[in-house]
Amino acid sequence: MPALVLLGAQWGDEGKGKATDLLGGSVDYVVRYQGGNNAGHTVVVGDQKYALHLLPSGILSPGCTPVIGNGVVVDPSVLLSELSGLNERGVDTSKLLISGNAHIITPYNVTVDKVTERFLGKRKIGTTGRGIGPTYADKINRVGIRVQDLYDESILTQKVEAALDVKNQMLTKLYNRRAIAVEQVVEELLVYADKLAPYVADTVLVLNEALEQDKVVLFEGGQGTLLDIDHGTYPFVTSSNPTAGGACTGAGVGPTKISRVIGILKAYTTRVGAGPFPTELFDEDGEALRRIGGERGVTTGRDRRCGWFDAVIARYATRVNGLTDFFLTKLDVLTGWEQIPVCVAYEIDGRRVEELPYSQTDFHHAKPVYEMLPGWNEDISKAKSFSDLPKNAQAYVKALEEMSGAPISAIGVGPGRTETIEINSFL
Ligand code: GDP
Ligand code: IMO
Ligand code: MG
Repeated sequence: MPALVLLGAQWGDEGKGKATDLLGGSVDYVVRYQGGNNAGHTVVVGDQKYALHLLPSGILSPGCTPVIGNGVVVDPSVLLSELSGLNERGVDTSKLLISGNAHIITPYNVTVDKVTERFLGKRKIGTTGRGIGPTYADKINRVGIRVQDLYDESILTQKVEAALDVKNQMLTKLYNRRAIAVEQVVEELLVYADKLAPYVADTVLVLNEALEQDKVVLFEGGQGTLLDIDHGTYPFVTSSNPTAGGACTGAGVGPTKISRVIGILKAYTTRVGAGPFPTELFDEDGEALRRIGGERGVTTGRDRRCGWFDAVIARYATRVNGLTDFFLTKLDVLTGWEQIPVCVAYEIDGRRVEELPYSQTDFHHAKPVYEMLPGWNEDISKAKSFSDLPKNAQAYVKALEEMSGAPISAIGVGPGRTETIEINSFL
């Protein structure tokens, strides 16, 4: 049996946590392969609500082994507090595995993230301030600290020294901040060594052996396609690859093992932080989407920017991820509109453009070309099958499917596990 990837098809917050949790009971492993605690994945089980940042959403399914892959950046203090928070609520977290090759978000990476954003002023990215970019920068610069380094004090000290060498020059001379002491960082990191030790494993070996034994492995993306460092709206992106290929590098599993790539797609669009967003609304419709959809960041508490569905983006997500299916979420939020605009193409400097332009300048000039679809007023939150949906809701889903280039295999009609219409089975 296969490996499946489940990822965000837009700018994040599409409902990946809910979708992962839904499959969690039927899969053997759930693996985060990139990002860190910039993510905020909400899972609602009965009357319990969980906000997961670093832990794979599979942690809530007994029987499922949650894995933090090598491509993830780990803030140990956040991880430990997330684990103890779940333990206090009776969730067993003992099966968690963490790759020894995952990079550590150090306190100085968090400092650098915040300082550089402040320095960028109005050009800032609007990062989550969790140290994500600087940690990936250290990884690529080959001065990163990995989980395995916690277990060799001498190596750890040398590596922290190397990382702080240039950073302290930058902090003191450019940003007018105090230098960070090597010993203090090493001391703080060593405290985590024993606490993390039970979880550290050769996750590449574990996952490949599991696949050889026909176990089902689900890769849970953080962020979304348009936040991808290569394929997103650069530079207004995160510093990793949430797109499908990232699952291979971020977990050490070959592309031939992946049989299904599921794009989580919100029935409208949201974005947090800076950057272009063609269908963004600045009127009462945007306000209504935010209010009805509860569009407030799980990680930073920031209001999410809201807009209509953008089929150009959905088509792009299908292409760059090789999507086999979509999971359409939050259809219930659109109940009550007389007509629902859907962006079918862009107008860029007087030209009609059907596909996402590769040029940043063009994308910044893109204006949505809307098609109006008839809305519905019936409460759809209890719908269990496609035929339970009102005709206009069915037509909305069918229209999105046609425009987006992959079948819609599930529809979310509420935040709860059971508030889902399953059309084609994912397993
Ligand atoms: P993620 O980062 O992709 O996991 O998404 P978030 O958890 O940040 O944001 C999605 C929000 O929508 C959460 O509050 C979910 O509980 C909620 N949600 C997910 N699917 C649905 C749905 O189908 N309908 C409604 N009304 N809410 C949903
Ligand atoms: P989930 O997994 C939405 C955005 C930030 C910022 C940009 C870069 O919950 O969908 P970073 O801290 O990653 O360097 O910030 O990316 N961003 C997200 N937006 N959902 C997320 O995660 C995000 N993670 C990062 O707002 O614009
Ligand atoms: Mg989120």
